[in-house]
Order: sequence, then structure tokens, then C-alpha cells
Amino acid sequence: MKRVDDFRLRFGNNEYVPIMVGGMGVDISTSELALETARLGGIGHISDAMVEDVSDRRFDTSFVKDKTKLYKFNINNSDKSVVQFDLERLAEAQRLHIGKTMEAKKGPGLIFVNCMEKLTMNGPRETLRTRLNAALDAGIDGITLSAGLHFGSFALMADHPRFREAKLGIIVSSVRALQIFLRKNAKLDRLPDFIIVEGPLAGGHLGFGMDWAEYDLMTITKELLAYLKNENLDIPLIAAGGIFTGSDAVSFLEAGAAGVQVATRFTITNECGLPAKVKQEYIRATEDDIIVNGVSPTGYPMRMLKNTPAIGAGIRPGCESYGYLLDATGNCAYINSYNREVAAHPELKVVSVMDKTCLCTHMRNFNCWTCGHYTYRLKDTTHKKADGEYQLLSAEHVFKDYQFSVDNQIALPEKEV
Ligand SMILES: Cc1cc2nc3c(=O)[nH]c(=O)nc-3n(C[C@H](O)[C@H](O)[C@H](O)COP(=O)(O)O)c2cc1C
Repeated sequence: MKRVDDFRLRFGNNEYVPIMVGGMGVDISTSELALETARLGGIGHISDAMVEDVSDRRFDTSFVKDKTKLYKFNINNSDKSVVQFDLERLAEAQRLHIGKTMEAKKGPGLIFVNCMEKLTMNGPRETLRTRLNAALDAGIDGITLSAGLHFGSFALMADHPRFREAKLGIIVSSVRALQIFLRKNAKLDRLPDFIIVEGPLAGGHLGFGMDWAEYDLMTITKELLAYLKNENLDIPLIAAGGIFTGSDAVSFLEAGAAGVQVATRFTITNECGLPAKVKQEYIRATEDDIIVNGVSPTGYPMRMLKNTPAIGAGIRPGCESYGYLLDATGNCAYINSYNREVAAHPELKVVSVMDKTCLCTHMRNFNCWTCGHYTYRLKDTTHKKADGEYQLLSAEHVFKDYQFSVDNQIALPEKEV
């Protein structure tokens, strides 16, 4: 019976344990988690979501405070178009977060950064260009383009000296999305180094509509493998979304995937950025506690725990401090929903907004508990302690369980005394 460790993910002449730990913004896939993954020979991800805030927390910089001060005058204005990112400062935060992570890297693995296109930041092209190029400046091993179709993203970094050296890949959920990406980038003469196929059971935003349950990762993986073969494209395909055991992973590797990307099982590790109390919420969750809804202003469905504080909270939009989801015209769907509720209930001090959420503020405060479909199985991966809390795991334990387990078994950690 095969185990994940019988396979290797190859980039050129280099080989890796075929396990990627997926990017989880905002700072849920921390630098520590990515560093552990790389130390163990796999591929870890950090995320550049809300990087200025992440930098402030990690390095005591004051990007957010300074931005808030600059745009304080606009807080009660529903037109947010003046709230622009200073590209120099954005690049500085990006270089700090990524550069410090890369400096600390040890071991045979790699560290990639997850860059979501849906972070349109009131200037989609320029802010993305800045993020991508600063990531390459800072020595990142690779970039995973996510949450968007990224038709123009390769071109935004084509002049960077590391454009052909760093590993660049994209997350897709269908053959069609990949076809269009390849067609749009054909003139750059630079193929992606890897493709992640993410199915409908993943955490975070889903690349499907609300009919997500009609899709299945293995079917889409096989369609993509057939497409790549047909086109004579030798690009490693990494399967993601709902791969919960080493044996699940092996089934994808045997089908021809070059690796797997996993995330949910790492949400309850010590290295994960979620607060300890939130990790307990994830472990306690039952299948009924998990929903896919449309509250994200991005327009993509998102999976989360039903009791997440982000649902219904009518907080004032935090765009002067954050503003990561402002579109090219300075708008965000949450602003419209919030203003509608305020206008409808002038007597209330605090309104409730059910259809959208202020994703920046809630992700920043770890109050949007996004999770993968199999979060309800996390309780089977650890011990319940005498006080009713669950024992957290080390990233090494989870990584090695994926790497070495057979027969759908899940290794429990040594009991804490
Ligand atoms: C808490 C959480 C946050 C996530 N955030 C992001 C993100 O910011 N960007 C992204 O591309 N994917 C995100 N994902 C998706 C993962 O990177 C990964 O592809 C997917 O969850 C793998 O499936 P699994 O969680 O069932 O193992 C997130 C997943 C989780 C569980």
C-alpha cells in the first residue's frame, strides 16, 4: 500500500515531499507554519493579504496607523475613492513580511506566497504589480496566484529579473479557467511552473457558484490531467480541497497529480495564526455548523462556521485603515449593504448587516472563521482534555501524518500530561 512519501514533486532537478500547505489569509498560514513545512521538505505558503497590517503586527511598523491618520477625514464619507495605497509603503511591507520569512528559512523545502487578485485595493493593476514585484525582490521561492482569473498577472512581473527563475503558478477550478489563462499569457513565452486545481470542499473563497456541491475534485483533476496531456504540457498539477488523510492524498497522486495542497488540518496547529479560542471552535464544529454563503464582498462563495462573528455584524466599513477590497472605483459591496441598513434603521446605534460582511476588518481580527468542508472531522485528529478543551497539534505532526499514513488512518498526537 502506497503512502505520500513514495511520491515526489519535481521542479526541474529538485524534488520535494509532495505536500503544499495552502495560503490562508490573513496571517492564518503564518511565517512559522510555512517555515516548518519547508523544513520538513514540503512547500509552505504565507499570504500577502493585508500585508501592511501583518507587517505592523510582526515588526512593529505603523503602516495602518499612518494610513488611518491620513484618511481620517473620510471616515464618514461613503465615497472611498480617495483612499489609495501608497505603493512605496505597500512594497516596503511586502518586502519585510516576505524577506524576513525567507531569511529564516531552513531545510530542503520551499516557501511560496499566495497572492489573491480579488484584493483590488482601490487600484487593482498597480497594487498587484507592486505586490508581485516586491515579493520577487524579497527572494520568495514562488508565487501562487489565487482568487481571480489573473489574466494579466504574469505580464505585471515580466520585466523582473526573477520572472523566469521563481516558481509561478495559479489556482484554477476548471479546465476552462486554465485554457483562458494560458491563451492570455501565450505571448510571454512563459508557462506556469505548477497548477493547483482547487475543488469545492476547500476553505476560503470557492472558485464555483452556489452550485458548488455539484462538482467533485477528482473529476476536475482528471479533466485537467487529460487536457495537459492532450496539449503536451508537462506542468505539475496539485490537487486541493477536502484531502483529509494521507490515503486521500495518495488517491490523487496515483491518479496523476504531482502533489496535494492541504490547509484545514493545519488550522489547529500551534503554528497556525488563529487565536487558541478560535482553534477550539474549529475542532468543536459539527457538519451542521459549516455553511457556504455569499457574505464575502468579493462575490465568490465562501465557506465558514455559522457562529462566526462576521455574519450579521454591522460595523462601520474600515476602508480608511484597510480598504483591501475596494474595487477600481473605490467601492465595496459591504459599504452599500451597510449604508442601506443605516438608512433603513436611523433609530439604531448598531445595525445588523446580513447579506455582506466587512471582510477586511473581520479577517484582520480573526472574526471570520473560514474553514474547509471537513473541519468537522478535526476532532478525530486529536485528544479531548479533561477540561473539555482539545489538544492542539504541531505542524510537524500533521505534516508527517499526511506523509506517512496508510489505510486512511490518522495518527493521534502523544497525549499532553
Ligand atoms: C482558514 C483558511 C483560509 C484560507 N485562505 C485562503 C486564502 O487566503 N487564499 C487562498 O487562495 N486560499 C485560501 N484557503 C484555501 C487553502 O489554501 C487550500 O487550498 C484549501 O483549503 C485546501 O483544502 P483543505 O482545507 O480541505 O485541506 C484557505 C483555507 C482555509 C482553511
